Amino acid sequence: MSDRPVCVADFELLAKRALPKSVFDYYFSGADEQETLSDNEAAFSRWRFYPRVLRDVSKVDMTTTVLGQPLSMPICVAPTAMQRMAHPDGEVATIRACGTAGTGMMLSSWATSTIEEVAEAAPDTVRWMQLYIYKDRALTQQLVRRAENAGYKGIFVTVDTPYLGKRRNDVRNRFKLPPHLRMSNFTSPDLAFSSEEGYGEDSGLAVYVAQAIDPTLKWEDIAWLKKITKLPVVVKGVLRAEDAVEALKYGVDGILVSNHGGRQLDGVPPTIDALPEIVEAVGGRAEVFMDGGIRTGTDVLKALALGAKAVFVGRPALWGLAYGGREGVGEVLQLLREELHLALALTGCRSLKEVDKSILRRCDLISKI
Ligand SMILES: Cc1cc2nc3c(=O)[nH]c(=O)nc-3n(C[C@H](O)[C@H](O)[C@H](O)COP(=O)(O)O)c2cc1C
Repeated sequence: MSDRPVCVADFELLAKRALPKSVFDYYFSGADEQETLSDNEAAFSRWRFYPRVLRDVSKVDMTTTVLGQPLSMPICVAPTAMQRMAHPDGEVATIRACGTAGTGMMLSSWATSTIEEVAEAAPDTVRWMQLYIYKDRALTQQLVRRAENAGYKGIFVTVDTPYLGKRRNDVRNRFKLPPHLRMSNFTSPDLAFSSEEGYGEDSGLAVYVAQAIDPTLKWEDIAWLKKITKLPVVVKGVLRAEDAVEALKYGVDGILVSNHGGRQLDGVPPTIDALPEIVEAVGGRAEVFMDGGIRTGTDVLKALALGAKAVFVGRPALWGLAYGGREGVGEVLQLLREELHLALALTGCRSLKEVDKSILRRCDLISKI
């Protein structure tokens, strides 16, 4: 490969070269046998386009909204923890790249930059807060309050992580943050994942989650969250239609179909396969988003055709960040934008409103090599 990356897979290779092994392993890994990790990407191949022709595609409008916020394209950045391991500017670089691209970013509770720092770096850029619910509810509420005060536009509560999935390389590497970094939103070393006692023989993050994150989480906690904030609430990590419908009863504003990038329960379906029945069950009563395995513009278009309002990309942004900081993330977003634009034009869609199920059919052939 020349050093000029032309697809997300190229960025991944370059990131692998640039990053220390334990950091690349943490970013890349899925849980257990990593079946869901690979299915997430491979499953897009089961869907094939049936393009419409002769429709003057000289202009293609990719603008959209997410929870009422206007965006230049339906591709946003998913929350990935501890981005300063990839680049010294971490989350600040990522939000600035999103600003340039006219899209939004979700900030992880476990960021290595504070909620306020990221807001100050890009006050006019759409930001959402990803929330882990801690055993300590006052602390959790404080995160929500800080996000509100700093102008974040929604709370995405992660519901697939009562315990951390077993990522084998993180166990082997006894993964922990390098000593100069911490989870910046917390003051005490224990909560900032920088405890001096260390985290034993396990993945340090798995130990951290067992200590701090609340495994008793249940539907009433979504009611609690809705009560303590006026911001839109989205549940992140739904894979079943019944759960999506249940979430609606609690007044959520959106559903993010996600399997955490294959990092939690191995053996769950790829998100592109879980998406259609959730879209059908929700029936337009809330916005439905998806993430997981999106690596090309055609992947994005397939998700949109199956009913996602927008998609989120996790690892692709990390690969860009590791490769070239803010510019690197910007290059990845620009690449995906151009690929989506081309895919829309070549399927005869002049705007996102013209994207529907009719451009797609399922087929059993999987041609990924
Ligand atoms: C390195 C890494 C860290 C992540 N950290 C978080 C997190 O802090 N909170 C969260 O809700 N999801 C987290 N996720 C899951 C992502 O938000 C997203 O669901 C997933 O990465 C999408 O799949 P993709 O990487 O194939 O695009 C993380 C994923 C990765 C790869």
